[in-house]
Amino acid sequence: MGRKPATPMVRLDDGRVVATEWQFTSGAETGWHIHGHDYVIVPLTDGTLLLEEPGDVTREASLKQHVPYARRAGVEHNVVNAGNGDLSFLEVEIIDRKLDGDRLATLSRFLAAWNARNVDALMDCMAEDCVFQSSSGPDADGRRHEGAAAVRAAYEALFDTFPEASWSDGRHMVSGDRGVSEWRFIGRDRAGKAIEVDGCDLFDFEGSRIRAKNSFRKVRSA
Ligand code: NI
Repeated sequence: MGRKPATPMVRLDDGRVVATEWQFTSGAETGWHIHGHDYVIVPLTDGTLLLEEPGDVTREASLKQHVPYARRAGVEHNVVNAGNGDLSFLEVEIIDRKLDGDRLATLSRFLAAWNARNVDALMDCMAEDCVFQSSSGPDADGRRHEGAAAVRAAYEALFDTFPEASWSDGRHMVSGDRGVSEWRFIGRDRAGKAIEVDGCDLFDFEGSRIRAKNSFRKVRSA
């Protein structure tokens, strides 16, 4: 038995918050979705929701007109109007695209700092409580360096290993607290051996700074 879709109408989008009015006839549903942002629901009517949640969980929730509630990003559900009458609420999402922009800027500065061989500038991009998982090492996650002092030492060692090194064709992406940089590494090690290989970093952010850098490189073979 198919349910009718609820109707969303964007009432406000100023780049930091998006306010969407949802209107449900009796039995209408939003469809399954995952919330990518923190959000506040302001009921515009009284009503009863049926919430379908992962793992076949269902529950009912009462909406009281003008009594708001807040939820965090990551909520996954289908929302159904379980009452007999129409129902509507305003969903206010905290988008904070400014933080996305700040994080993208951090990734650009970070790549430039690698090319400038500037360890201070690299550490300016890292949170105090940072982690670096290098692309090679004895463990499944390469080699793990924890804390600013250990990460700084690992970066210095990398410059020491590669007297010539450049990271070109940088491409960056940010989604929520995570980010990706792709690049081509071209360098020469102490023994004079040339290396040219594509790789990427997966990042976790804390504010606009990098909390964790997890590096990967292609393995070249004949
Ligand atoms: Ni929802």
